[in-house]
Amino acid sequence: MKLEHLPGPKAQDLVRRDGAVISPSYPRGYPFVMDHGKGSEVWDVDGNRFLDFMAGIAVTSTGHSHPRVVKAIQEQAEKFIHISSDFYHTKWIELSEKLNEIAPFQEDALVFAANSGAEAVETALKLARYHTGRSAFIGFMGAFHGRTLGALSMTGSKALYHRRFMPLMNGVVHVPYPNPYRPLLRQNPGEGLGKTVVRYIEEQVLGQLLAPDDVAGIIVEPIQGEGGYIVPPDDFFPALRELCDRHGILLIADEVQSGMGRTGKWWAIEHFGVEPDIVTSAKGIASGMPLGVCIARKSVMTWGPGTHGNTYGGNPVSCAAALATIELIEEGFMQNAVEMGAYALRALKDIQSRHPSIGDVRGKGLMIGVEFVKDRESRAYDAALRDAVVDHAFENGLLLLGCSKSVIRIAPSLNITRQELDEGLGIFEEAVSYAEKKLRG
Ligand SMILES: Cc1ncc(COP(=O)(O)O)c(C=O)c1O
Repeated sequence: MKLEHLPGPKAQDLVRRDGAVISPSYPRGYPFVMDHGKGSEVWDVDGNRFLDFMAGIAVTSTGHSHPRVVKAIQEQAEKFIHISSDFYHTKWIELSEKLNEIAPFQEDALVFAANSGAEAVETALKLARYHTGRSAFIGFMGAFHGRTLGALSMTGSKALYHRRFMPLMNGVVHVPYPNPYRPLLRQNPGEGLGKTVVRYIEEQVLGQLLAPDDVAGIIVEPIQGEGGYIVPPDDFFPALRELCDRHGILLIADEVQSGMGRTGKWWAIEHFGVEPDIVTSAKGIASGMPLGVCIARKSVMTWGPGTHGNTYGGNPVSCAAALATIELIEEGFMQNAVEMGAYALRALKDIQSRHPSIGDVRGKGLMIGVEFVKDRESRAYDAALRDAVVDHAFENGLLLLGCSKSVIRIAPSLNITRQELDEGLGIFEEAVSYAEKKLRG
């Protein structure tokens, strides 16, 4: 059902006031002004209802304001809101124990708690330098790791993010991500794309640019997020792990977007049968309360008191929200992500078969990318069509979010129902038909 006159009068007024006082650096796609939400439904300030297929960029993993998360937050807030990371408290310890239990490695884990994904990444970079005594890093084209200067140095998804912020961290080299739909490197006969990328790192980067014993870590998103929801081929991570082992380089899995059950496993890297040395998590970990964590093997987190810290780390309210979130994911939401993810992937591939503008549909669990192209032969990006789909969906009651040049990411809450998916996918297909007609006649 088309929602009339979006944005409504209250939304219009708030957008105007926002423009007067809030930093213009935030990218705002369309004027959704939130009033409240429940599960996968949200309402704007004018009373319009929308389905949410992006969960605040893959953050509200248990849906908006899940009662158990709200209760955990309320109970903790009544007891105390802050004490600072110089002291001890139960929820922080319990959360770290739980993260140790689910960390994607056999070895025991130690956890550093921060407030955001970028800060978790900063921690991982500093820890890798500290532990190895080396300074250089390898990252990937298309990667997003955050916007603080260290994390930004590893980000490689848009020139705009770097423009006028140079110089960034020294000793960083970006290599192509193994993108099966858009491979950048020429494969040797019989060689899988994952192995090609690792061979490129070995030959071109370690052979010509960075001495292996200067490289502290390779940071990689197990499924690339902002870069286009790209699933690497199965041969990639085993080859990358082997390369890291051979050169004493730490493998850092940035699971800020892909972790916490979103792909149907706690961590996306578990799909590839490889153990990293350091993992970062944020976004979905606390259902929307600010929390980022850097989880490392015990033998890697070797720094001593004072080497790294913060004021808010281990914030009790965020930790309480995270514990409730993890319980809910464990009790059934992760399984729901497996089932609803498979269902949505099938449905989207079906939609693709009816719409030539959709070049590729890929993903794991509820982390699905739909890529729009001018034609399937050339695979030329069609950003205008993608944007028209997002706008039309909004006007018809569905919140979507783009990524990369012409991709829409489907990243709803992990407890989305089949009925909600059906409703949203109906609006999605209608929006694709509308955009194809409008832009291609
Ligand atoms: C993989 C990844 N790492 C790091 C970040 C940065 O997280 P934050 O925005 O919380 O700083 C993001 C955010 O989108 C991300 O997707």
